[in-house]
Amino acid sequence: VIGNDVVDLGDPETHPGAQHARFDERVFSDAEREALAASPDRVRLRWMLWAAKESAFKLAKKRDPRVHFAPRRFEVTIASENIHWVRHEGLSLALRVEIRSGYVHVIARDEAAAGSVCVSGVEPVRPGDDARATVRSLACTRLSAALGVAASQLSIPRSATPPALRLRGVPLPLDVSLSHHGRFVAFACELESPQLLEIA
Ligand SMILES: CC(C)(COP(=O)(O)OP(=O)(O)OC[C@H]1O[C@@H](n2cnc3c(N)ncnc32)[C@H](O)[C@@H]1OP(=O)(O)O)[C@@H](O)C(=O)NCCC(=O)NCCS
Repeated sequence: VIGNDVVDLGDPETHPGAQHARFDERVFSDAEREALAASPDRVRLRWMLWAAKESAFKLAKKRDPRVHFAPRRFEVTIASENIHWVRHEGLSLALRVEIRSGYVHVIARDEAAAGSVCVSGVEPVRPGDDARATVRSLACTRLSAALGVAASQLSIPRSATPPALRLRGVPLPLDVSLSHHGRFVAFACELESPQLLEIA
């Protein structure tokens, strides 16, 4: 399974001082707060850590619907510049982190999924457009290219929680994750080669 989360760094709620006075204490572990205190780019690190926890939560919730979002219990480890992990009650998830000037995007995957292909994307929402429609259109368009089917044959119904990808109305055994925040939408999906062959 997979989880993803995007944070719009232009959104006023991400600006320094915009959070509740005890936000960091409530959300971050001691080690994470130490990393924040030492960081030359506290804003990006803060929202990377947040997106890591949200993406891990989306994954963990799919594995066990009883999981609640207790952010401090999703512990992020930054092993090196490009290697990050989240641990949560026995789960160990590998993170893929993309930090741009306008947004932070994080994808969480099971360690065991390292061999499968991950298709993902981030896109701005046009002013006036519905983010939930935009993220579905982005995911279906990108996945249609990866799966070799027409985008119009793919759908992600709004009613399903967690989101589920369908081909001609029939659920596909592919796990997809959606996110929208401010000016951006993002998705991630895990593809395994044998599934690709069957669909093609
Ligand atoms: C599921 C949850 C994580 C969504 O996170 P969010 O940051 O609010 O919103 P995002 O845009 O990133 O994600 C929304 C998408 O998550 C997906 N989602 C919803 N429930 C989900 C679940 N149980 N498992 C996995 N994905 C889920 C949906 O696809 C949804 O998009 P859609 O409504 O267009 O289908 C949210 O419901 C939640 O529980 N967040 C906890 C946040 C919180 O407690 N904050 C308090 C501050 S400390």
